[in-house]
Amino acid sequence: MKASILSAIPQAKQVEALSYLVFQGDKLPHNPSAELLNRSEFEGKESQMLVVDNLDGYQHIAFVGLGKQKDGTNLKIQSAVATILRAATTKNISSVCVVVPKHMEMQNVGTSCMVGAELGAYQFLKYKTDEKTKKQKKVEQISFVVSKGASEFKKGIDLGTVLAQGVALARDLVNDPASHTNTQTLVDVAQSIAKSSSDISVTVLDEAQCKKLGMGSYLSVARGSVVPPKFIVLHYKPKAVQKAKKIALVGKSIMFDSGGLSLKPSGSMEDMKIDMSGGATVLGVFSILAKVDASSEVYGILPACENMPSGHATRPGDIVTAMNGKTIEVLNTDAEGRLTLADAMVYAEKHCKADVIIDLATLTGACVVALGGDLAGLFSNDDKLSNSFEEAAKQTGDEVWKMPLHMSYLKKMKSDIADLKNVGGGRDGGAITAAVFLSEFVDKAKWIHIDIAGPAYRTDEPKGALGKGATGWGVLSLVAWLQQV
Ligand code: BES
Ligand code: ZN
Ligand code: ZN
Repeated sequence: MKASILSAIPQAKQVEALSYLVFQGDKLPHNPSAELLNRSEFEGKESQMLVVDNLDGYQHIAFVGLGKQKDGTNLKIQSAVATILRAATTKNISSVCVVVPKHMEMQNVGTSCMVGAELGAYQFLKYKTDEKTKKQKKVEQISFVVSKGASEFKKGIDLGTVLAQGVALARDLVNDPASHTNTQTLVDVAQSIAKSSSDISVTVLDEAQCKKLGMGSYLSVARGSVVPPKFIVLHYKPKAVQKAKKIALVGKSIMFDSGGLSLKPSGSMEDMKIDMSGGATVLGVFSILAKVDASSEVYGILPACENMPSGHATRPGDIVTAMNGKTIEVLNTDAEGRLTLADAMVYAEKHCKADVIIDLATLTGACVVALGGDLAGLFSNDDKLSNSFEEAAKQTGDEVWKMPLHMSYLKKMKSDIADLKNVGGGRDGGAITAAVFLSEFVDKAKWIHIDIAGPAYRTDEPKGALGKGATGWGVLSLVAWLQQV
């Protein structure tokens, strides 16, 4: 999408759709015909939209509400611009102009506008073959009318374009099913990311190498599948590293989760191509890290594999040994994410010397039951760290809710014959027990675990920058956090 900045509202011939962002209670800004519009139906409430066709020569004029003018305006602008672009995309409109309200921080507003525009216009049409869809126009031109701070706004737009590319990569990877993507796809993407920047390198460990390192827990998940496991390690080391702390981002990367021998019922399996969303987010972040001024050394770890049943698959009751020497009785092969993450987190500390680990995982259905589809559940062993992440996330639209790392539930996962069981306590508190299980594989690192089973993929109606399907949850918040630490 080509973006430009204007200092005055373009004439009707120059743009297909003109749009305004309106705070609740403010007058409709379009003159001279504002009085023609029926104010009663549009109050400027957040995400409310009024579209008037054929007004003053313009084909379409849209007004989108920002709600009350107080905190969080940037996010509301991001959301409103996304709403405009989604509507324009479905209406086959190719050029849109957005009149930006006066604001203190034009750079951040620029970023919000562009992130909203690109993500609102995002579509996944790769597998559509009908002529109508193929001919559908994309919004190719977006212009922003700003009354001040054009150069700051331009910087914001440039950053927003980059951020949205990272999110779109994550969305594309998640939306693409396991028939067309496998562990090698993630390897290919990681390698092309490493090629694109001299600050990024990648190492890929195959099954034999993982075995040598003692990753019995991770490999036990891969055993049932014909798809070979790939343990992918990205390393970002900016030329001028300013921070001493090493950060590891670990992403659950199950290309498809059938449940293994503890097979899921078919309804629960339908969306399980999304079980690599954590890994997709990590790849999304790495694809833009070098362009967003991140000054810390960062590792990205994807223990990628597929969870399938077969004659080779791990059986319920089998015992596996993780890289830190702990033995695990695998009672439910559908609780596989924690088995792959366990070895990945031990690797992060032992081999990458990570001081901080953030893992993202579509880990439990229980987290969706607890928090619904909007919110990710956050668990941490360090309040200061988790506060800093929550603060960063708040600015981006990645919604997160702090959950308790209630260690006394560890008792439920004590095995009679091994150190741990991979499940315990039935369904009660399932998101918490999963997090507590993971904590057994963190040694000294400060750690955040984010269960994104709910918000990784939207089946509900679009909301702001989030359409239906994969959301790319975490790319924006992780980048915002990395820019601040
Ligand atoms: N990948 C699933 C979790 C999931 C559920 C992600 C819904 C996205 C949407 C995970 O591997 C899983 O199957 N978890 C089990 C754990 C249980 C066996 C303890 C679950 O949530 O039922
Ligand atoms: Zn599972
Ligand atoms: Zn899973």
